[in-house]
Amino acid sequence: MKLLVVNGPNLNMLGIRERHIYGDRDYDALCRYIQGEAVKLGCEVEIFQSNHEGTIVDRIQAAYSDGTQGIVINPAAYTHTSVAILDALKAVQLPAVEVHISDVNQREAFRHVSYAGMACEAHFIGLGFEGYGKAMAYLCGK
Ligand code: DQA
Repeated sequence: MKLLVVNGPNLNMLGIRERHIYGDRDYDALCRYIQGEAVKLGCEVEIFQSNHEGTIVDRIQAAYSDGTQGIVINPAAYTHTSVAILDALKAVQLPAVEVHISDVNQREAFRHVSYAGMACEAHFIGLGFEGYGKAMAYLCGK
């Protein structure tokens, strides 16, 4: 099983940004956690992060023909704004799972809308890093 994990803007600032919301662990720690879960699950994983909407769309499109079998996506702020990322996920027709570190449903009203989530078949929200592991296990169990 070959998975792609896509992380959106400012997730590279984990450990620095709003630590009362996202915790003290940095982005490298998240990547190590994801790689460790991949080993446990026996799957292959590529982790991709970008602060740019179009670059994220390009990476999702590339997944159509690069052997990716499932996408875990935390589009970060683009969750709440990006029809382009929603359309890209629909276009490639790969199973996709949405992850958010924080519980977006308990935060500001503008975070309650998820466009990307409309193309996702499962959602792990507010579970910290563990949401990524659960999303990967979900896709590997398919
Ligand atoms: C986030 C939640 C988003 O609302 C926010 O813009 C982020 C991170 C999360 O993982 O909790 O950047 O996706």
